[in-house]
Amino acid sequence: MSPQPQAAVGAPLSRVDGRLKVTGKALYAAEHEVEGAVHAVIVDASIGRGRITSIDSAAAEALPGVLKVLHHRNTPKLPYRDNSGSNNPPGRRLRVFQDDRVRFHGQPVAVVIATTLEAAQHGASLVKVGYDAEQPSTDLTEAEPDEPTRYARGDAEAALRSAAVRLDLTYRTARNHHNPMEPHATIARWDGDQLTVWDKTQWVVGTQTELAAVFGLETDAVRVISPFVGGGFGTALRCWPHVVVAALAARETKRPVKLVLSRKQMYLGTGFRPSYEYHLGLGSDRRGRLSAAVHELDAETSSYETFTESILAAGQMLYSMPNVTQRYRTVPLDLPTPLYMRGPGFQTASFVIESAMDELAHELGVDPIELRKRNEPNEDESSGLPFSTRRLRECYAVGAREFGWHRRNPRPRATCEGHWLIGRGMAAGVYDTARMPAQASARLDADGTALVEAAATDMGPGTYTSQTQVAADALGLTVRSVTFRLGDSLYPPTPPHGGSMTMASVGSATLDACNRVRRQAIELAVGDRESPLYGVPADDVVVRNGRLHVKNDPTRGETYRRLLARNDRTHLAADGSFAPPSGPERHSFYGYNATFAEVAVDASLGLVRVRRVLGVYDAGRIISPKLADSQALGGMVGGIGTALLEHTVTDHRDGRIVNANLADYLVPVNADIPDLKAVYLDGEDREADPLGVKGLGELVMIGVAPAIANAVFNATGRRVRELPIIAEALL
Ligand code: MOS
Repeated sequence: MSPQPQAAVGAPLSRVDGRLKVTGKALYAAEHEVEGAVHAVIVDASIGRGRITSIDSAAAEALPGVLKVLHHRNTPKLPYRDNSGSNNPPGRRLRVFQDDRVRFHGQPVAVVIATTLEAAQHGASLVKVGYDAEQPSTDLTEAEPDEPTRYARGDAEAALRSAAVRLDLTYRTARNHHNPMEPHATIARWDGDQLTVWDKTQWVVGTQTELAAVFGLETDAVRVISPFVGGGFGTALRCWPHVVVAALAARETKRPVKLVLSRKQMYLGTGFRPSYEYHLGLGSDRRGRLSAAVHELDAETSSYETFTESILAAGQMLYSMPNVTQRYRTVPLDLPTPLYMRGPGFQTASFVIESAMDELAHELGVDPIELRKRNEPNEDESSGLPFSTRRLRECYAVGAREFGWHRRNPRPRATCEGHWLIGRGMAAGVYDTARMPAQASARLDADGTALVEAAATDMGPGTYTSQTQVAADALGLTVRSVTFRLGDSLYPPTPPHGGSMTMASVGSATLDACNRVRRQAIELAVGDRESPLYGVPADDVVVRNGRLHVKNDPTRGETYRRLLARNDRTHLAADGSFAPPSGPERHSFYGYNATFAEVAVDASLGLVRVRRVLGVYDAGRIISPKLADSQALGGMVGGIGTALLEHTVTDHRDGRIVNANLADYLVPVNADIPDLKAVYLDGEDREADPLGVKGLGELVMIGVAPAIANAVFNATGRRVRELPIIAEALL
């Protein structure tokens, strides 16, 4: 088939669902009107580890409006089948009210269901739980690690010993919580053995399979609906225990149940970015050619599940070097299980590696960009595979020019404006281009409009809009003529809305479904004696604005509407799919960036103000430039938070999170956000997927924290190897 003109893809459209969002008509999980819904409020454990010895729910049950109090003594055994079709890490997942164990501070130990929210909240405050408390272990540096995961090529220890220049550095990164604007919420309703759930989730299919596994149902007996998600950053990639609590409460009361987590409860078991302690040994020659890296890192996990993330990949492939060893240990603690948070793994690895590269550049007196270019690999040295596309050198060149890198004084603490010390820093970023099987369906109606559906979700990046753009061009329709529906497990299945894989995976399935429909229409026309296109080779026909015509003769053609009407067709429809090629990969797939930051540090107060951030991205094709900018600017804001503010603090005496609220867990506000700019290298990656995209949502956060840390060094001469960088570290 002839390639379609691209009119919608690449256009800076506003969100197709923008009006719904700003008028409050977009319904988030807790806002769906489900008739007869009652309210559930969870009671959280007030110890960090131990056993429940007593539960007194009499006062709660006596309250007017309270329907039931559920806890481990009155909850039936739930099947909890294994479920590989979810984001459950290895281990034994937390089973709701199935035993008397308390595994972390804040674990759900009971739920109060009442006809009003106020009665449920009051009831929850009246449930008296007795405990046999034990001393929890919540300190990463104090606990016993698991057996390590290892990687080695060459002999890094020996190469490091003989290196002309050697760095031996220890980094620490804080635990971070996702903190989306919309809290987790679930409405659950049973119709006989059929369970319907309106949920905040980044993966309706994952939540569907998990609820089926927990309750021992066929997958088809569960329907999960999630048309709008108010931010996720990874927290909604798993079906957490509170979703099971809602479904259980609905089953036991025979009423639909609505359960909304409080802001505090968002810190008590819906995932987090684990804290790391990370040792990096780096060896190079005098010219800065790297010879060896030794990575030894410890990360938090829970006592009942082993959560790991892609923290090793960057150390194996970002720079050329013959010798690398890595030792990655999880440390089981009395905490809930961590989960992916924006830029998972790569974000933390990039802070460590890119800070160390800056230290090496300073040590050698080499420009940080020049040092990186001297270590640019010709292939992926972890696999021996060629890169599908890797344009990091162009990212450096474009970034240096746009940022005015040549104006940076490499000497630390050399640039002042009054009492402000000014510094500039940069970092490279990398994130893998994940693709997974996805499906979509498309239908072209006789009125010339189209409906495309996939089970995907949209936590904010603009999936509705970007998928509509892809569909519109493939069908040859205007964006206004296409409706894209998502967020329902009844639609064709898709992978998790995370890991930057939605555009490549779902987008390619949408493209396939729409291409099939267009082909049907073209074949109908060229075989129809009544059509002006009769007898034209199908490959010579394109569709534009709902009209099929000969590619080189726009005057010869007809509209979809005429074609379908004359042929008595109510619609044309097709299912589409995408799957990455089977068998071993033939390329190494990654997106790249170069990130630049300028900071001002108050010389006497240690206060860090970010003045500007520039990101230059090699992310393949950009489908939706305006939404890409939203992604990139949001990623930079997230990176500023990680660099300077975000820190979940635990009281190790009892395992309690001290700052489980948005007043004490600091995130950037408008006054913290300076001039941000995103630049995309024009291009596409045809090896990665039919759309040529490499994913953007995770990549844009990576590199921000080390660029800021490196700028802080340039401003102050202080090397801070701990996130967040706080004023005290600079005094
Ligand atoms: Mo992303 S951390 O996979 O939502």
